[in-house]
Amino acid sequence: MANTILVGAQWGDEGKGKIIDFLTETADVVVRSQGGNNAGHTVIVAGKKYVLHLIPSGILRRGKMCVIGNGVVIDAVSLAGEIEGLRKQGIRVTPRNLMISDCAHLTLPSHRALDRAKEVAKGAGKIGTTGRGIGPTYSEKAARTGLRTGELLNPKRFAARLRERLVEANRQLKAMGAQPVNIAAESRQYLAAAKVIAPFLGNTVVFLHEMLDGETHALFEGAQGTFLDIDHGTYPYVTSSNTTAGGACTGSGVGPNRIHKVLGTIKAYTTRVGEGPFPTENQELGDFLHGLGREFGATTGRARRCGWFDAVCVRYAGIVNGIDELAVTNVDGLDTMKTINVCVAYKLGKKRLDHPPTDLDALARCVPVYETFPGWQSDTTAAKKWADLPPKCRAYLQAIAKLSNAKLGIVSVGPGREQTILL
Ligand code: IMP
Ligand code: MG
Repeated sequence: MANTILVGAQWGDEGKGKIIDFLTETADVVVRSQGGNNAGHTVIVAGKKYVLHLIPSGILRRGKMCVIGNGVVIDAVSLAGEIEGLRKQGIRVTPRNLMISDCAHLTLPSHRALDRAKEVAKGAGKIGTTGRGIGPTYSEKAARTGLRTGELLNPKRFAARLRERLVEANRQLKAMGAQPVNIAAESRQYLAAAKVIAPFLGNTVVFLHEMLDGETHALFEGAQGTFLDIDHGTYPYVTSSNTTAGGACTGSGVGPNRIHKVLGTIKAYTTRVGEGPFPTENQELGDFLHGLGREFGATTGRARRCGWFDAVCVRYAGIVNGIDELAVTNVDGLDTMKTINVCVAYKLGKKRLDHPPTDLDALARCVPVYETFPGWQSDTTAAKKWADLPPKCRAYLQAIAKLSNAKLGIVSVGPGREQTILL
C-alpha cells in the first residue's frame, strides 16, 4: 500500500472511520493530524461497535501503530476516558501502539466553556459547534497562548500554567455573563488525566520520519470534511482546522513528497451537522433516513441534516485535495428509494456554475440543477463484489464518480468490515 491521505469530501461523517479501518489491514501506521474530539468515528468489528474520537481507528487492529500528530487538539480528560473505554472493550492501548505528539495543543475545560458561551452569544448566528472547545483551542494556538501536551511532563509547572489559563478564561466567561469554571475541581481532574496521557508522548515527527524511511506504509486519517475546512469550507460555518489533504502534512510534519495517494470519502448522498449553507438539503430525504435510524451524530447524537448527492461540491473537493480515488459509503441507505437526485450544477440567477461560489450569500442563492436516477430498490448489504451490486446501483455509482471527475475505488454497503467492495 502507498502512503495515503484519506479525507472527507463533503461536510464530515462520510464514513471515514470505517474505510480507514478497512485499509489499515495493509498499512503499518495510522496518523491523525487535525481536529479533536469533535470527530466521531463509528467502526463495527465482528458486530461490536466502537466509537472513536481522538484515537485513530487503526487501534482496533493488532500490530498497527497509531499516531496523534501535532496538528490535533487534545482534551486530556476526554482522551484518557477514550483510552479507558477501549481497554474495557478489550482493546490494547499502550505506548507500543499509540504515540501522541508532544507538540499537540491541549483543549482545556475553559475552552469548552468558552465554546458554549460564544455560541450562546451568537444567538441565531451560531455555528452549531460540537461544544468540545475546538475553536477556542485553535484560537489560543494561533494567539500563542496555548498549552501543549509536552508541558504535561512537568506536572508542577503545568499546574501553574493551567491555573493561569483558567483564571484568564474565567475573566472572559464572566464578562460574557457565563458560568466560570471551577478551577480547583477542573485542575484536579485534568492533572489526573495528564498522568494517563504522559507515557504516550513523544516526538512524532522524528518517529514518522524514521518509520517512513523504512518499508512502512502510512494512512493519514482525516477528520471532518472538506467543506468544514477553515480555509476552503463554508466559512464561518466551519471547524477550526485544515480538514483538507494539506492539513495531513502540516498536522503530522510529514513532507508532501512522501504522499502517494489521496482518497476522498463520500456518502452516496450528503449530510451536514451544525448550521451553514447546504444547497441540496432535502427534508423528505432526511425524514426517510432518520426513519431508518440512520444519520444521527456519533459525537453529539444530533440528527444530521440530509440532502442529495452534490457533485458540484465533490468536484471542488477533488481540486482542493487532489483526490485520486473515491470511496463511496452508505450506498445501502438508498436501497429502497424509487428515484434518486444528483446535483450536477448550480444555477445562480441565469448563470450555470460548475463550482460552488466562495461567497456565502451567493452560495445561499444557488439553486441545484438535478439529474434524476432510477433507484435499484433491492438490498445491497450482502454484496461482496462489484458484480453483486444491482445494475442500477452500479450505474448510479459510476455516474456520481464521473460527475465528480474522480475514479471509483471503494464501495461500502454497510458498517461492517466485510461490507466493503474494493474495485
Ligand atoms: P466544532 O468543530 O465543534 O467547532 O464545530 C464546527 C462545525 O463543524 C459544526 O457545524 C459541527 O457540527 C461541525 N463538525 C465538527 N466536527 C464534526 C465531525 O466530526 N463531523 C461532522 N461535523 C463536524
Ligand atoms: Mg463523525
